[in-house]
Amino acid sequence: MIPQNPAKHVLILFLVLTFFTSCFGTYQENPYADVPELDKKISSKPVYSGFSKLVRHRSTSTTTSSSNKVVINVDDFAAKADGTDDSEAFNKAWDKACSSKQTATIVVPNRIYHLKPITFLGPCQSDLIFQIYGTIKASNKMSEYEDDRRHWIVFDNVNNLKVQGGGIINGNGRIWWENSCKINKDMPCKVAPTAVTFNESRNLIVSNLWFKNAQKMHLRFEKCINVKAMNLLVTAPGNSPNTDGIHVTGTHSIRITNSVIRTGDDCISIVNGSRYVEATDIICGPGHGISIGSLGADNSEAEVSNVLVNRATFSGTTNGVRIKTWQGGSGYAKDIVFQNLIMKNVTNPIIIDQNYCDQDDPCKEQKSAVQVSNIMYRNIQGTSASEVAMKFDCSKTFPCQGILLQDIILGLEEDELAKASCVNVKLTDMGKVSPQCY
Ligand SMILES: *[C@@H]1O[C@H](CO)[C@@H](O)[C@H](O)[C@H]1NC(C)=O
Ligand SMILES: *[C@@H]1O[C@H](CO)[C@@H](O)[C@H](O)[C@H]1NC(C)=O
Ligand SMILES: *[C@@H]1O[C@H](CO)[C@@H](O)[C@H](O)[C@H]1NC(C)=O
Repeated sequence: MIPQNPAKHVLILFLVLTFFTSCFGTYQENPYADVPELDKKISSKPVYSGFSKLVRHRSTSTTTSSSNKVVINVDDFAAKADGTDDSEAFNKAWDKACSSKQTATIVVPNRIYHLKPITFLGPCQSDLIFQIYGTIKASNKMSEYEDDRRHWIVFDNVNNLKVQGGGIINGNGRIWWENSCKINKDMPCKVAPTAVTFNESRNLIVSNLWFKNAQKMHLRFEKCINVKAMNLLVTAPGNSPNTDGIHVTGTHSIRITNSVIRTGDDCISIVNGSRYVEATDIICGPGHGISIGSLGADNSEAEVSNVLVNRATFSGTTNGVRIKTWQGGSGYAKDIVFQNLIMKNVTNPIIIDQNYCDQDDPCKEQKSAVQVSNIMYRNIQGTSASEVAMKFDCSKTFPCQGILLQDIILGLEEDELAKASCVNVKLTDMGKVSPQCY
């Protein structure tokens, strides 16, 4: 099913997305059109004021005249693409591009290049384009990650960067999955590398790429500002451990659009320090769905706000849209909208879990919690694989507040009624909502 030719795959991706968009043609063109009115009911502040700023910022980052561009081909630095390591050529190409006074484009031709763990470090002298036509494949020797087992490719402190080109970034993750303690209980639990990390960078556009078989997470945005991730295909086997699609941490003003994410963990995960996060036109599954959290582990403070998930389809995922927090944490997850979603055989289509506990020992009861408030669920339809389609398991001391449900119709695969489980939650219903809390 998955095509080998990158140009072809991007074409297919677009066909899929065009189809997807047309399926949703009856939804509003502008998803924010009537949000402000609803906002008044659930929040005193406008939720999306940050997004227009986001678009403005970006246009300033791309105003370079096309006449003075520098093109740097990795092959000019003796990249061999013959199965041996090409890291040195990529490092040299990066150094040249990063010190260029004019916009520089690094070209990765349509061949298969191998890289060891590598950091592309900024700040650079001007805007950069990483144009990947071919495949970049990770070394599968675990020993090569001895210095830093957490990262494969890192873009660190690079502003005004585009990474694009229709190519493939292949984490070659099988060796890591096989050695994961989640798969092989005899193995010690050790960290594995994230395939591509963007760290402390601004004005990024990551588009038209296929990320596959990451060692752990595929794509991680850490402490970034103004990010556009679009037209991405992210794939790994449904049983590959911790292979999140796109992980967002400490990042604000990020827009993820038109992307297909099929992996073994969360399609998109949004954690502490993230705000103004938008995910629109996403196809998710297999995987664990779109997740806010986990937040508040080890009694930590966490803050996530202003998240919009709009127009997404979840197929066979363990969750649809989930908020998960540990007991004992503090801070908040607030001003979040999940709308225009289709669930197909999803185990927990709608879930807030304030008693999240992902460890061997049971988590003991604690008083403090990450406050969950102003969460809107609107126009969500489809089927649940489990009896309970909607679950709010909130904290006794910090109940979930301002939860709005509007036009929710979730049943079971077998055409039967689903159930809702609602503990310590303050809910408001609008329109038709099924199942109902009792
Ligand atoms: C991210 O940036 C911070 C601050 O410069 C630095 O300490 C950290 O090592 C960077 N992380 C990576 C993965 O490069
Ligand atoms: C949570 O995010 C905030 C804001 O980015 C940061 O200051 C804080 O250190 C983070 N907390 C943890 C536990 O990572
Ligand atoms: C629904 O999902 C469950 C497990 O999550 C699976 O066993 C079942 O076969 C799926 N049903 C359909 C119709 O896909």
